[in-house]
Amino acid sequence: MHFFRTCIVLFVVVGLHSAKWAECATLRPAWAPHAMIASADSHATRAGLQILESGGNAVDAACAVAMALGVTEGYSSGIGGGCFIVLHMADGREIAIDGREVAPAKSSRLMFVPRKPTDATDLSLYSPLAAGVPGQVAAFDLAVREYGTMPFADLLAPAIALADTGFVLDEYYASVVQSYATRMMNDPGSLAVYFDNDGRPLAKGERLVQKDLAATLTRMAKNGAAEFYSGETADLIVEYMRKSGGIITKQDLAGYKPVALEPVRGNYRGYDIISMPPPSSGGIHLIQILNLLEDYPLSYLEAGSSESLHLIAESMSLAFADRAEFLGDPAFTPVPTEALIHKAYADTLRKKISRTRHLPQLSAGDPWAFLSMIDHHTTHFCVVDEQGNAASVTATVNTPFATCITVPGTGILLNNEMDDFVTEPGKANFFGLVGKAVNEIEPGKKPLSSMSPTIVLRDGKPYILAGGAGGPRIITATLLAIVNALDFGMDIQEAIDYPRMHQQWVPDRLFMEPEHPFDVRAALTAKGHAVEVGSARSRVQAIQADTMRGGWNGAADSRGVGAAIGY
Ligand code: GLY
Repeated sequence: MHFFRTCIVLFVVVGLHSAKWAECATLRPAWAPHAMIASADSHATRAGLQILESGGNAVDAACAVAMALGVTEGYSSGIGGGCFIVLHMADGREIAIDGREVAPAKSSRLMFVPRKPTDATDLSLYSPLAAGVPGQVAAFDLAVREYGTMPFADLLAPAIALADTGFVLDEYYASVVQSYATRMMNDPGSLAVYFDNDGRPLAKGERLVQKDLAATLTRMAKNGAAEFYSGETADLIVEYMRKSGGIITKQDLAGYKPVALEPVRGNYRGYDIISMPPPSSGGIHLIQILNLLEDYPLSYLEAGSSESLHLIAESMSLAFADRAEFLGDPAFTPVPTEALIHKAYADTLRKKISRTRHLPQLSAGDPWAFLSMIDHHTTHFCVVDEQGNAASVTATVNTPFATCITVPGTGILLNNEMDDFVTEPGKANFFGLVGKAVNEIEPGKKPLSSMSPTIVLRDGKPYILAGGAGGPRIITATLLAIVNALDFGMDIQEAIDYPRMHQQWVPDRLFMEPEHPFDVRAALTAKGHAVEVGSARSRVQAIQADTMRGGWNGAADSRGVGAAIGY
């Protein structure tokens, strides 16, 4: 069990900085005096560190981490998917970059609704139609041009090397391949990458070499992001779409534009929070839940008690009821952001919470009236550099291995982000989330996301960077990391390793990790919660400023195989 894993803390002298670095993926956070990177995969963390050590800033390193993750944790994210980037630059600039996938021009509201009983019901997950127009390459191209210091090509170098020479599969990666093997072996592109010559899925200890992906990344290094959106790579994607019944066209790819937005802002017990605005629901609901909780003396109620868990679960349920009702791509439908993150709106909603009983929420709140008066996958990583720049990034292809389709000749795994839309009225998506017309498919629209890359500021400076993987559990897992650190005084590793719970309104259940004591679960059942015990299905990576020693504490979720390393 992750709580009892052995902790390894290494102190090694790194030549370039003659400084110590620390690495830890277990019980204690990794500490380093100058800079820190926490990601879900150690190869990717090291790729970012290589960039910091060669003089790059946090944005440069974040780009290198993202590109490396697409190679070594490709079941979670990659250039065939999208991402959100939240930056706090040392000079005070704050920005949220939206690299979310977009519905192709030929998409339509009811495209996934079966016409006859024999039609497939999972096309929004496992078909070329499931892919939105990818945004990750364009988002990082924008981030690096505006806020980085190094050429995009140099930032691709570690990922190219990892794809070209390969890396050895760990147990977790091999288990994900095994779980999706039946689906992937039916796709010739994936069969060529994730299986050996005898058609067996690659196993733990075997090397995954991705020559086509290395070639695609190499062309991108030569030709820039345009290679992906209008070069040979775009041609290969469109040719595959044409042959396989997909609908992404050359115009869709050439027309993709990342968007630079103002982060959504809130504050909690004196700390400022910046996070991702719509088309993510993550930032809004993270702040909304914190606003609801601010009125309760959580630290007196103690971490893990049935009282504190009950109040947090009720707050989560209220926020997810609003998510289903009001959240969608703001370019298509107005989102009442200002109301949803307002303290006074939280005051009105809090009246629906009983201190002693779980009250099923029959409807959403009324933010408009107020104004007039996923183990699921995705990946999160954070970087802080020596200058005080901070990057909090969540990237995804959606579910593990997404469509399970690899575009022939490119090594690119196609996202299945179209499933984040409401694909059929009343139908829950992969994560069990329901939604309404605000999140129905329209050409050019972005599917609502839960990704919540967040930076907590103390006296205007980055204090905690956090975010996670796991569909809707991203919001609640990120929330719990922040509450555990700020209210319950846990160090950042403990804050993310602590047993998690999750409430998403529908289904009206309280999901709890088995490490919660039996008597606490019994007490919550007695309060009326429908407790369901199971795995967290979420992963968090985080960095926290060390106020005692100076420097940074980094933590990779010990439920996973990531690493935090600094210098
Ligand atoms: N694909 C998961 C999310 O964006 O919420």
